[in-house]
Amino acid sequence: MSKNITLTMLKPDALEKNHEGAILHQITESGFKIVAMKLTQLTKADAEDFYSVHKDKPFFNDLVEFMTRGPIIAAVLQKDDAVEDFRTLIGATNPEDAAEGTIREKYAVSISENAIHGSDSDENAAREAAFHFSKREMFSLQ
Ligand code: CMP
Repeated sequence: MSKNITLTMLKPDALEKNHEGAILHQITESGFKIVAMKLTQLTKADAEDFYSVHKDKPFFNDLVEFMTRGPIIAAVLQKDDAVEDFRTLIGATNPEDAAEGTIREKYAVSISENAIHGSDSDENAAREAAFHFSKREMFSLQ
């Protein structure tokens, strides 16, 4: 066990449906500490950069279009085993496969509009947190 961080984004579909309050409540009730948070809207260049690992995937253009169509909430979350525990909390990428009670099971509609993002490794969590926030904005990390 180690105190570490993960980066989440509440995606445009979640905010369009006013699910951000319920989702943030579930996150904090599950033991995650919000150490940075902002409401923002990604530009096309931002989304292409953030998801550059997927640039050769057939869904890349749709992913960029979806992630830029409205505001998101980006947040850095701190907890023991944050990356692994948060991926358990949000559920499988495809909501059809997401376990009961997970955030995607409750709020996602499809694999492409799946409500929420969670980092998949400690290395990516650090990279993704730095993408959205300066060190000064990540309170427990100073
Ligand atoms: P996330 O894991 O947050 O980041 C990558 C995103 O790409 C993923 O959520 C999905 O929204 C999207 N994605 C992954 N696989 C597919 C797919 N097969 N079809 C459409 N979108 C996908």
